[in-house]
Amino acid sequence: MIGTATQNALNAQINAEQYTSQLYLAMSAHLSEKSFKGFAHWLRVQSAEEATHALKLVDFVLDRYGKLELRTINPPPTSFNGPTSIFEMVLAHEKENTASISKCYELAKSEGDHATEIALQWFVTEQVQEEIAVNEVVDQLRAIGEQGGAIWYLDHNLAKR
Ligand code: FEO
Repeated sequence: MIGTATQNALNAQINAEQYTSQLYLAMSAHLSEKSFKGFAHWLRVQSAEEATHALKLVDFVLDRYGKLELRTINPPPTSFNGPTSIFEMVLAHEKENTASISKCYELAKSEGDHATEIALQWFVTEQVQEEIAVNEVVDQLRAIGEQGGAIWYLDHNLAKR
């Protein structure tokens, strides 16, 4: 059985991953409207990944005979600024998510729930990779700025994801 606090945290994490998926899709749509098709593609792929993270947790709760509680997904913002601001938001959001996963991990540990602890190790590792990937884009955007042609080169490169 999953401990009560851990189960609540996992249900909240499912909601957080679903919200993240919506947020990145909204960002992707905004950038697509601005003709940044590569940045938009990158975020759309990430949005799909976030949805799979939610499902991975759903399956884990079900496999452990836990109580799945799907919650209302808050709507993401409808207006954004340019690519640099958006990717800075993504980085900040991923850092929050890393903290949230760590909280789940600590709860599982404190409740002696080794199965959840082990399952969450995948997410801990994934967060390291996600922060690296987003940080790289933020660094590149900050280095080139948004006025010259270099941003379109970066946009072209991100379309290859
Ligand atoms: Fe599912 Fe980007 O964390």
